[in-house]
Amino acid sequence: MVPTMGALHDGHLSLVRMAGKPTVVVSIFVNPSQFAPHEDFDAYPRDLDSDLNKLGSTGANIIVFAPNAREMYPEGFATSITVGGGSAGLETDFRPHFFAGVATVVAKLLLAALPDTAIFGQKDYQQLLVVTRLAADLGLPTKIIGAPIAREVDGLAMSSRNAYLSASERTVAGNLNKVLKDTIARARETGDLRDAEKYGAAALETVGFDKVDYVAIRDAANLSVATGVSGPARILAAAKIGKTRLIDNMAF
Ligand code: PAJ
Repeated sequence: MVPTMGALHDGHLSLVRMAGKPTVVVSIFVNPSQFAPHEDFDAYPRDLDSDLNKLGSTGANIIVFAPNAREMYPEGFATSITVGGGSAGLETDFRPHFFAGVATVVAKLLLAALPDTAIFGQKDYQQLLVVTRLAADLGLPTKIIGAPIAREVDGLAMSSRNAYLSASERTVAGNLNKVLKDTIARARETGDLRDAEKYGAAALETVGFDKVDYVAIRDAANLSVATGVSGPARILAAAKIGKTRLIDNMAF
């Protein structure tokens, strides 16, 4: 299974292709419970016909599950799943409602389809850890697999939200991945991870981001604060250009 919110791009399709020969259930559902009232739920791009065409072009054996909100959240719906551990901090500091919405809908989607495997992108790295935790803790019969980040030519991570960017904003956005690489280089050079995080945040502002939510170097397995550069770490960032909030991350 590949759960999505639609407005499909090559990043989503790479997940479908990764599934290979078996039948893939692709869900398309813009999940209201993971958006705060001030966020972009209404504006979120929706184009089911185009999504179906793109899925058709993969040649994969696909079942599309595109429920409406009433099917997913019938009258009286009152359950919310909270995942602890790696869901604390980073995204949660800025989108406190987000992972409960994701965990609840992903649990429902996995239970509806009961796939043997579900693929999630490393693009949403913290989400991947949260979903992995959720599946293990609830004993869901589904193996969770992480897929590499699909990027544009200039390195910008593909995202449905990139469609919000004007031409000049799109140019700024292309620097996010470059700043993360520079920040990794700086951290390796100095060994001072907190200094490197500050350097990265300042560099994002210099290249034209309007607000930096975080640039953080964390333990790759559980997102605890990384103290040294010896073990597997991950650099993660979230920043806004105008109203558009972009996230990215890399292995370190
Ligand atoms: P959405 O943003 O549509 O992403 C669906 C899946 O595609 C996620 O697993 C995401 O990590 C992956 N993805 C997005 N862009 C990617 C890229 N550039 N490279 C690789 N994978 C990429 O994430 C969600 O939807 C929702 O939160 C969802 C899990 C469907 C729950 O509503």
